[in-house]
Amino acid sequence: MKKSVVILGTQWGDEGKGKIVDLLTERADAVVRFQGGHNAGHTLIINDEKTVLHLIPSGILREGVKCYIGNGVVIEPTALIKEIKNLEASGVDVQSRLYISKSAPVIMPYHITLDQLREAKKGKKAIGTTGRGIGPSYEDKVARRGIRIGDLLHADLLKEKLTHVLEYHNFVIKNYHGAEPLSFDEVYQNALQQADFIRDMCIDVTGELHHHLNQGDKLLMEGAQGSLLDIDHGTYPFVTSSNTTSGSASTGSGLGVTDIDYVLGITKAYTTRVGGGPFPTELFDEDGAELAKRGVEFGATTGRPRRCGWLDLVALKRAVQVNGITGLCVTKLDVLDTFKSIKLCTSYGDHSFPGAAHEWESVQPVYQSFPGWQSSTRGMTEIKDLPAQAKSIIDFIESFTGAPVHMISTGPDRNENIMLADPMS
Ligand code: GDP
Ligand code: IMO
Ligand code: MG
Repeated sequence: MKKSVVILGTQWGDEGKGKIVDLLTERADAVVRFQGGHNAGHTLIINDEKTVLHLIPSGILREGVKCYIGNGVVIEPTALIKEIKNLEASGVDVQSRLYISKSAPVIMPYHITLDQLREAKKGKKAIGTTGRGIGPSYEDKVARRGIRIGDLLHADLLKEKLTHVLEYHNFVIKNYHGAEPLSFDEVYQNALQQADFIRDMCIDVTGELHHHLNQGDKLLMEGAQGSLLDIDHGTYPFVTSSNTTSGSASTGSGLGVTDIDYVLGITKAYTTRVGGGPFPTELFDEDGAELAKRGVEFGATTGRPRRCGWLDLVALKRAVQVNGITGLCVTKLDVLDTFKSIKLCTSYGDHSFPGAAHEWESVQPVYQSFPGWQSSTRGMTEIKDLPAQAKSIIDFIESFTGAPVHMISTGPDRNENIMLADPMS
């Protein structure tokens, strides 16, 4: 029996992780977020009804399933409380089964201010962050001056910590950026109110997860962003500020690496990216426009149009390696239904895998072309129904990356999938 299954993105995010987590939660006891923050936007569609989750694990729509936010997640309390209230307003029971790690770093208002000021200062060279304060909060964690959820719960301790850290950040906000410093009283009073709202949900998540494992429960670990946005292995500096790869499922939750027995890599049948940075297979022609239109490629968090391009197998293979992928789930195959010809990037020419920004800029993608099937695969649930041309693309992905394709997603709804090998069994 599997103990825990990690689900993560193998590209630049928005691969369809939320949909697959929700689907597989049917057979899980708990779902855990272990990195990232409310920069994530995970879309769930159940009987035509759409829910977008940012911080709350994508298991929340399955009754009775426990949802954990681990120590590796940066938590913005205002966003979290809003998300809880929105879900509760639509009848979902949240507070009785959502648990928050007391060790998780808090995203404070000055982190959001700093994120936005820095991006504005960079102008054309901006990373294109979500402006949610993700980077500055992780920086404070690493600098050992961050405020943790557990600190929020103690008014006196919070006062002391906040006094020092706000003095430091206000100095930068005022003297480096020439912007308005934040008011201590406002930040402090607001944090105290938020602490009261979340207090009862804050626990020792690591201890509870090991309790689940000891009982033989199944855990689903839900990644955010994608492997090419990883702070170490991604297209640095155009990345997010956490490790988005599978090791994070351990460090960001407190599970041991040997507690993880399956890593499911989610990959779109093409590629998208939001924000700035390298994207070797990006398309600027009508094929790119067709992918964007058919895939409805707009950010689930910021609403920005997503850049679109062909599937990059060189990047995917690297993601398979750094994550130790057990099986792949290819999503949005149906988006390719209308294409006469489909390209897959199989080489970066004589370029080795880039390790620095300037190296990414000189990558020249080499493609292999495949005939399209030009018929509908939307909603298919059986591999035997898949057109031969689509099957050969799946076969090629497997042989190129060395990872088996265990699932294929054929539409946004929870039930639109072909299951080849169940990661949960
Ligand atoms: P996540 O961040 O990885 O959870 O992905 P997002 O929710 O940001 O973006 C994925 C988008 O694709 C959402 O709008 C999903 O509803 C949609 N989607 C997921 N799987 C499929 C699929 O197989 N086919 C189609 N057409 N849409 C899909
Ligand atoms: P999900 O979980 C796509 C991108 C931003 C920007 C970069 C850094 O829905 O796949 P940040 O705010 O994290 O400092 O921004 O990372 N980014 C995402 N792109 N999907 C996401 O999450 C993303 N989260 C961050 O667009 O380029
Ligand atoms: Mg998303």
